[in-house]
Amino acid sequence: MPVLQLRYMGDPILRKKAAKVEPEEIDDKFRQFIADMLETMYTNEGVGLAAPQVGESKRLIVYDNMEAGYRLDPQALINPEIVEREGSCRGEEGCLSIPEIKDMVERAERIVVRGLDRDGNEMEIEAEGMQARVIQHEIDHLEGILFVDRLGGVKKRLAVSRWKKLRKELEARQSA
Ligand code: NI
Repeated sequence: MPVLQLRYMGDPILRKKAAKVEPEEIDDKFRQFIADMLETMYTNEGVGLAAPQVGESKRLIVYDNMEAGYRLDPQALINPEIVEREGSCRGEEGCLSIPEIKDMVERAERIVVRGLDRDGNEMEIEAEGMQARVIQHEIDHLEGILFVDRLGGVKKRLAVSRWKKLRKELEARQSA
């Protein structure tokens, strides 16, 4: 399974609203793409990944079911929609599209999400705590929202300027 190229903050695809996946698009090729996304996520030691982060502006997210233990229960959700949210909590987040930047973000404590599984069947899941945080973070990507957008003004500016420096180093390393 190929590991896909990650897109980093600054890439316009990360700011686009992703397109809904039509049921007829969910075929073996699509499932292979899901497998590649999961491979990409695990190779980069991530806990979640949204399709725009690998260059596909589609409403698809993958994540690790942490309750089962890391890498034991990879999940995919197509056209995910949050239908219930409850409570709020702060916790640390990072993003594979903004490597090395981490900060505290406020999210709903518990959510109910509806979407399609990788066979196109409707599913509903309930998540809380860290799992709910990951799913909310990934669904934000489908709206073109990055976690740094949820930081206060000064913190966001600091994170973005730090990232711009890191991005130059990263690009220099990749082309070396
Ligand atoms: Ni992210």
